Amino acid sequence: MYSNMSIFSRATILALFATQFSIPSFGHPVLEQRTPPIVMGSAITFGAIAATTLTSTGATVITGDCGTCPGTGITGFGAGAGVCTGSIDAGNTAACNAEADCLTAYNDAAAKAHTNTLAATDLGGLTLDPGVYIFPTSNAALSTTLTLNGTSNANGQFIFQIATTFSASATTSEVVLVGGAQACNVYFIVGSSATIGAGSQMQGNILAYTSIAINSAASNKGTFCALNGAITLIDNALTAQATCST
Ligand SMILES: *[C@@H]1O[C@H](CO)[C@@H](O)[C@H](O)[C@H]1NC(C)=O
Repeated sequence: MYSNMSIFSRATILALFATQFSIPSFGHPVLEQRTPPIVMGSAITFGAIAATTLTSTGATVITGDCGTCPGTGITGFGAGAGVCTGSIDAGNTAACNAEADCLTAYNDAAAKAHTNTLAATDLGGLTLDPGVYIFPTSNAALSTTLTLNGTSNANGQFIFQIATTFSASATTSEVVLVGGAQACNVYFIVGSSATIGAGSQMQGNILAYTSIAINSAASNKGTFCALNGAITLIDNALTAQATCST
């Protein structure tokens, strides 16, 4: 736990250091180009993978795999309940490999030097190009539409480094992709837990250090990973982005 957190805070400290002492920004964009892209590894086929429990209420449809590791509690799927079109991996090797790959992606993304500091906590209303983004506050939110512009680069990644919580709380919370941006290349790196509000339409990999709560009828294209806690679902549509074009 502490090794993860220290990687995250090292980036923050470096950034603060650069600001405090007016050091030119170490050529962050160049550094960014040199570091390899973040990959989901075997987790890419999962719509949701949790550490403890994966619980669905209602008619959730996960297009992809569903898993837990080291926990084994997957509930709410089967006859008359939710659907998981791929495998249901409760504490097996596939699930544990996926969790390990989520942790690698989380650590790699958290360690990236940021390219941009956003002016506000809320991503709503912004149009952003590929980059590594940090926030003026420890938490982040999405209240309306976030537009991500791939600028014709299929490999462009969007990484949001959030130190504590992420809340996409409204029915109007939505990620829109333009200019060749791909959901598989969007990463929300959440230092504690994420809440996805009822009716939100997300696109991206949401990697939370603790847990993720997804409320009624929210959707996502990508993978939800809870690294140490649970994922709870209610009538959701989650679609793993099993391939990522380059
Ligand atoms: C996306 O970025 C390209 C290149 O900067 C720009 O020409 C285009 O207008 C942008 N599209 C949107 C919808 O912002």
